[in-house]
Amino acid sequence: MSSAEAPFPHTHLLGIEGLKEAEITQILDLADQYVEQNRRTNKKKDLLEGLTQINLFFENSTRTRMSFELAGKRLGADVINMSTSTSSIKKGETLIDTASTLNAMRPDLLVVRHGSSGAVKLLSRKVDCAVLNAGDGKHEHPTQALLDALTIRRRKGRLARLSVAICGDVLHSRVARSNIHLLNIMGARVRLIGPPTLMPTGADKLGAEVFHDMEEGLKDCDIVMMLRLQTERMHGAYFPTISEYFSLYGLDYEKLAVAKEDALIMHPGPMNRGVEIDAAVADDLTRSAYRNKLKWGWLCEWPALIC
Ligand code: NCD
Repeated sequence: MSSAEAPFPHTHLLGIEGLKEAEITQILDLADQYVEQNRRTNKKKDLLEGLTQINLFFENSTRTRMSFELAGKRLGADVINMSTSTSSIKKGETLIDTASTLNAMRPDLLVVRHGSSGAVKLLSRKVDCAVLNAGDGKHEHPTQALLDALTIRRRKGRLARLSVAICGDVLHSRVARSNIHLLNIMGARVRLIGPPTLMPTGADKLGAEVFHDMEEGLKDCDIVMMLRLQTERMHGAYFPTISEYFSLYGLDYEKLAVAKEDALIMHPGPMNRGVEIDAAVADDLTRSAYRNKLKWGWLCEWPALIC
């Protein structure tokens, strides 16, 4: 039996923290198989036929929600998208009451995004089906990290011993946290680069080297991961002005010059050009995985569905 065919030993996927190297490899191997399938004209498979998947997004999303919807449909599930702006949540219903109502409808899978760290785990304890975390506050975004790992592995052939620089608003980023866990588990070397105000306290204890200067941190790295300034989670001033932030931490060709010549540039999206990344760098198809990621976006999120 290949690694991809072995049963996945977890009911839910709530985070990367706590997963084993072999379990991550198993998901990536499975995702690799689906890459081929998704390049065929007929992309349907009846793996989830008869199952009901509910996408419950309390926060805005383009890529993640669409990826899960597409993934569920292509695998044959009945997919329902619940929009919180038109649901009873607007009438004051609590998360737990919403969870109980949905649970009574006997779904097989809930894909949940929520603005509070820990909310998805709490919800998973109140329902009888599998729960996938599609991002909870600043805590974790496991399928984004799996997708990033798949992208790196397909481009570079491995994860181990690669130097990966995660740059920008690390403090508010669930993508950064999931990636730090995953890259450490897989034996990559993680660097975090950003202003002190946007670095979590104890960042050095997360298994990463911390830099406040882009050129120091980017030196000879293999992968550059840029993060959006998550202003929706900021209460107060974290940097003087956007133009000052861009001049110190925005990725342009000048800063990139110190990274390895074939360094791969990544961004989870949505991207703010002229804030954390220069438009020319973002559009450079020879360096940036951003466009490919849009195509691959759901590939990693898809195998996660069958956990
Ligand atoms: C990220 C998120 O929501 O955490 N986006 C995503 O899911 N691809 C990153 C972000 O919002 O900046």
